[in-house]
Amino acid sequence: MNVFVTRRIPEPGLDLLRKEVEVEINPEDSVLTKAEIIQGVKGKDGLLCLLTDPIDRDVISAEPRLKTIANYAVGYDNIDIEAATERGIPVSNTPGVLTDTTAEMAWALLFSVARRIVEADTYTRAGKFKGWGPLLMLGQDVSQKTLGVVGAGRIGTAFALKSKGFNMHVLYVDGRRNEILERKLGAKKVELPELLTTSDYISLHVPLTHSTHHLISEKELQMMKTTAVLINTSRGPVVDEQALVKALQEHWIFGAGLDVYEHEPEIHQDLRHRDNAVLQPHAASATVETRTKMAAMAAENLLAGLRGEIPPNCINPKVFDKKKRITT
Ligand code: DGY
Repeated sequence: MNVFVTRRIPEPGLDLLRKEVEVEINPEDSVLTKAEIIQGVKGKDGLLCLLTDPIDRDVISAEPRLKTIANYAVGYDNIDIEAATERGIPVSNTPGVLTDTTAEMAWALLFSVARRIVEADTYTRAGKFKGWGPLLMLGQDVSQKTLGVVGAGRIGTAFALKSKGFNMHVLYVDGRRNEILERKLGAKKVELPELLTTSDYISLHVPLTHSTHHLISEKELQMMKTTAVLINTSRGPVVDEQALVKALQEHWIFGAGLDVYEHEPEIHQDLRHRDNAVLQPHAASATVETRTKMAAMAAENLLAGLRGEIPPNCINPKVFDKKKRITT
């Protein structure tokens, strides 16, 4: 068996793969084009890919031998799951191991925006600090404020639970009731408009789907308080970036902390010049520990798929129902 890895991941994951299969890795530390991925997957039984790789119907049908795809990410909006399922290919992701790490980044962004950390750091390094000032770098308090969590799944829940020490009033939007948040924080499930109009801090934790694309657009930004802070560590297209730029330029909101962008790796030119935006390079899961765990998890998923087993984190387990029906 042999597999193609679209970009180098931490060694422990690659070592797991090498013990059982032939491994070909993109030799460059760069994102491959679709044509390069198609080329790489030729003659391979497995594909280990990244959230930056467009794994569409063409890629999925490029190699008849392809048995399984492991995404090195929890989000899998880069993969055409329907096409993979049609071809009987199990697809897996890396949930759980990056939950706290991503939630921590959301908090890091929240504090950075609320207390203007990046702006103040730049100011101080530039030699502009001439002494304590009553009006210098005024930000926003966090304790006792209202926290709005959009999407109360694994990461949204972990993010909300970390607010405990700040005695915040927690609101959340989700299709389902979250009993943990309600019991542990007294959180209230509300509709999006109520969350947007009453929250001081709004953090997005939804997957990218047709229904969450531009979930936060001009109308939603206009509903927010002028003191509100928007945090996005989910997927860029959940926010209409053009509308966000306008909101930041015209001070409809206090600021935004972003780890993801609508057209990654492109970032709206005007966003880059906003002091009231703190920007990260899609690095919410980027710690040594978490990326290593993700590598091992993706490798184990891939190996299970190659053995014909259900990968431990299979997104489309129904491919196995189909396989069972064919063999019985
Ligand atoms: C994911 O795993 O989906 C994250 O965006 C990676 O940082």
